[in-house]
This record gives sequence, structure tokens and C-alpha cells, in this order.
Amino acid sequence: CGIVGIIGYKPVSDRLVTGLRRLEYRGYDSAGIAVLDGQTILRRRAKGKIANLHDKLISDPIDGHSGIAHTRWATHGAPTEDNAHPHQAGRVAVVHNGIIENYAEIRDALAHRKFESETDTEVAAHLIDEALVNGATPRDAVASALAQFRGAYALGILIEGAEDEIFCARHGSPLAIGVGDGEMYLGSDAMALAPLTNKLIYLEEGDWAVLRKTSVEIFDKDDTPVERPVTVVAFTDEIADKGQYPHYMLKEIHEQPETLSRTLSHYLDPIEMRVDMPDGLDFAAIDRVIIVACGTAYYAGMVAKYMFEQIAGLAVDIDIASEFRYRDPVLSPKSLMIVVSQSGETADTLAALRYAKSFNLKTAALVNVMTSTMAREADIALPIKAGPEIGVASTKAFTSQTCALATLAVGAAFARGHIDADTAAAHCRDLATLPQRVVEALLCSDDIAQVAATLIDAKSIFFLGRGPMVPIALEGALKLKEISYIHAEGYAAGELKHGPIALIETGTPVIIIAPDDALFEKTVSNLQEVAARGARIILLTDAKGADAAKGLSKTIVTLPTATPLCAPIIQAIGQQLLAYHTAVTLGTDVDQPRNLAKSVTVE
Ligand code: G6P
Repeated sequence: CGIVGIIGYKPVSDRLVTGLRRLEYRGYDSAGIAVLDGQTILRRRAKGKIANLHDKLISDPIDGHSGIAHTRWATHGAPTEDNAHPHQAGRVAVVHNGIIENYAEIRDALAHRKFESETDTEVAAHLIDEALVNGATPRDAVASALAQFRGAYALGILIEGAEDEIFCARHGSPLAIGVGDGEMYLGSDAMALAPLTNKLIYLEEGDWAVLRKTSVEIFDKDDTPVERPVTVVAFTDEIADKGQYPHYMLKEIHEQPETLSRTLSHYLDPIEMRVDMPDGLDFAAIDRVIIVACGTAYYAGMVAKYMFEQIAGLAVDIDIASEFRYRDPVLSPKSLMIVVSQSGETADTLAALRYAKSFNLKTAALVNVMTSTMAREADIALPIKAGPEIGVASTKAFTSQTCALATLAVGAAFARGHIDADTAAAHCRDLATLPQRVVEALLCSDDIAQVAATLIDAKSIFFLGRGPMVPIALEGALKLKEISYIHAEGYAAGELKHGPIALIETGTPVIIIAPDDALFEKTVSNLQEVAARGARIILLTDAKGADAAKGLSKTIVTLPTATPLCAPIIQAIGQQLLAYHTAVTLGTDVDQPRNLAKSVTVE
């Protein structure tokens, strides 16, 4: 899941481990490093946390002036030490992100060799070593192996006998080269390399490269030497530590007044009170928006569907990225594709973007990382401005995605003549109040912590909402299961009676998300249906809703009153706090939940 590499003039082990720590936020289940000590590759690997690897390196140190390191999120083969990277075969050590799809074929062809792991990655090390055994130079061995791989990969390769070089390749998984002073680096994202350099070369699809201390040679997919520009990346100190907070997730939840202000100031003109429509986005020229995303970003897109349809009268199709291109979607050339992604690297979302481009659709990428592949490949890159998000469970990125999409819905409504300038200005003024309302929502944290304490023994929890609160219910359930490991399901409140109500028993917690909006009364009817079956109702609402529902629920959390455009974000904050406090009470690893990765670069 994360790659770091260094070729330099001084020992690399400590710095490789520091780089891995900076990638911890992406989620992983084992870690390892390999260095070239003179002519010999030495490796240390460990299951579990980087601290385990660090302990091994203390008791049994290795070092050298070049090395590669990896955090692995298991795909092929369990998270064991044997399956951890780097993998070594003969003179070659390899770290790899992604999936080599034809690994079984390659493994069969190399049946005379002894494999030590169940991974697809190990075939890469063997294939390169086989070429070396057959007399190829290191460069040719790497090139010939790359030509045989199918699938998605980012690779870092160390070869005994090529002490002054590290090889790397990018095909479908992100990889950047860092340019240092007498050193060169390799990283799966800028974050890993931040303490080492801010000068990055982003490899393009199919590129591979040879890194030396003071130079880099890059080849494209046809093996032709190419130049790629050096980008100077701006880093903030935001990720340096958790500050006063015990977890990154709580820090990020509390950053939301500020992150949303940043999002709003990017998309709104505060003087004219209108949407600053990003260059190239012409909502008047399209017949439909197609939103494609994964996970939490998908739910932000789902909220946006309500906004675009209700405010702008513009049809929105929304799809999960891993489904989109496999269902042969019927695409009109007048549609606008918006991919939503915190990282801008999620493999399925990226593939969906490329699919839409192949049909000549206009594409926009709403991302948190403006140097990401999606930002670079889409016609229009739209920033969400949330700042680096470290907690694996997305919080501030979700609200900034939703907020940016809300501003675009207002801009689209005006551009299409669906609302006049005064109405658009009123929506903008309303959105501008969001950060203050979020400050107030965060004040509910203690109340929500008390509710959370009552959930820890639950076997299963339901989350219900109607209208734009359906995606918030889905996101609430996702957040809770991600970090507390309690089974949770989000449902459209009206749908529960068509099946899942059979699961309601006396005391089953049902979280109802119902601010006082046009659907409030209907949601209250659904509340009564489950209450009649013995469910324990927890109502998250606003002041008017709390008043109206008095007597219907013993547990009511009153979040700030908000308009339809802002309410999903306010209610989402309630859900974030609920998941957070439940997980903390249970003592789970809030920032790095088991089995999850922050950025999923495999399909
Ligand atoms: C992973 C993360 C989720 C995230 C999803 C999409 O599964 O654990 O939190 O929502 O990927 O990520 P993206 O970077 O595309 O928003």
C-alpha cells in the first residue's frame, strides 16, 4: 500500500522507516525494508505495526546507502511475515503496490524456481532474477520483466550488482520520484517524502525509471527516454502532529469549521455572493451529471444528487466506481462526469474516469490532492481544500466534498436559469453560515459521547433517514462499522418495513436522522413503526424536530438548525462524533482500523 525508496550517500534504514511511518495513515497490515549493504541485499520484515519492524531493526540492524521499504495491505495472501514485502529472489528485491494479474501464468513459467510467499509480487522478483541468470544486464532484466506484467502496479526494485541504481515503474498505481541533494527518492505519495524533499517528478502511466544519486533516467511505455517535469509541492505543517487531540480523526472532525471555510472561499465570491464557477465547467451545456466514487466519497455524491436535482433541476446519475464501467452505462456525450475522491488515486474511480474519457465525456475530478492522478487526468480539477486527511475513516474530506458539490449545484441552478440571481445569492449566504453552524454542531460532542456509551454492547445498529438524510444514514453506518466494528446498516427509513424490520428486537438501537425538513413527519411515522417493535430509538434532529418528537424517543440529540443545503453536513458531523466516541469507548484503533486502507489503489 505504501512505497518508499532512497538511493544516497548516507545510511538509509532510519529514514526508510520514518517514510513508512508517514504512510501509516494509508492503512496496512505488515511492513518491511531491504537495503543494499555493499553487494548484498539485506531484509527485515514484520507482521503488524511498523513498531514491530522497528523493534526487529533495533535487535538485528541492517543498513546501506540505498534501500526500498513497504507497508502492505494484503491482497493475495494473508498478512504474514512471509507475504510482507520486500520480496527477494536471488539478486533481486522488490516492493510493489497494486496487482500483477497474470502472476499465476508467470509463476507457472517459472515452476523450476522456489517461491516463498503466496503473493503476486514475488513473481516480479523471480522474473527479473531469471533474466539476470540468463545474462541480461540489470536494466534489460527490469525492462523485459515489465513488458510481461499485466495489471496495475507501482514497483521499486533493488538489484545486487547494481549498487548505484534503484529501478522503479508505474502502471496504474501512483508513484513519484523525489529529487534531493546528492540523493534520489521514491514514494507512493508526496507525504512519505515530505521530510526529504519537496521536489517531485510524477511518473506517467507506463513510465519506468532508473534512479541514481544525482540523476534519473525515465522511459515511457515504449522504452523511449522521456523527460518529466519537476514539481515543487507545497506542504503544510498540518499533519505534523495531532496537537491537543488523542486521535487524528478527532482533530480532523474539529478542523471542519476551518476546512469548510476554505472550501467555501474557493467556490464562492464573498462580496458578490455568487458561485465562482471553475473554468471550463458549463452546466448550461450539459444534459446530465454522472457522479462516480467509492466509499465515503460516494455518499457525498449521493447527497449532491438531491441538491442538483432539487435546486438545479439537473438529472444526476450516481454509481459506485467498481460497478460503473462493467455495466455498460449508456452515456450521452452531453453528460458531465464528476469523479469524487479524497485521494484522487482510488483505482476503481480512476478507471471510471478513464472510461468516461474514452467516450469523450467532459470530466471533472473533485479531489483533496491536487497533484493526484485524477486531478491531472480529468479535464477539470476541482479542489476540496480539506487539507491532508490522516484518519482512515474520512470526515473533513466528506464534508468538504459535499460542500463543494452544494456550491456547484447552486452555480448550476443559476447557469441553467433554474433560479434567479437573488435566489442564488440567498443560497450562497446560507452556505456561508455553514462554518459557524459546524462550530455549534461540535458542541454536541459530549451529548453524543453519552449516547455512544450506550451502544457498545449492540450486536447490530440501524441508521435511518429520508431524502438527503439517506446518504447521511448510510455514511453514519459506514463510519460506525469502519472504526467500532459493530455491525451497522443504513436504510431509507421508508424501506425498512420491506424486510430489515424483521431484525428489530427489543432494545435494538435505531439511529434516526431527521432534522425538521419537508420529510420530517414521514420519518417520524417510520420511527413509530420500529419503536412499536421494541427498538431503542436515538433521534438526531434539530431544535424544532426535538420539540415535535418529544415523548417519541427517550434519547434525542439536538444539532443546530440548518437549511436543506447545510443540514446534511450538520447531521454528518453528528454521525462522525457518534462513530468516534463509540470506537474510543470500545478501545479500537480509531485512526487505523483493521483491514482498511486510506487509499485503495487496487481494483
Ligand atoms: C477507502 C477509504 C474510504 C474512502 C474510499 C474512497 O476505502 O477507507 O474512507 O472513502 O477509499 O477513497 P477516495 O480517496 O477515492 O475518496
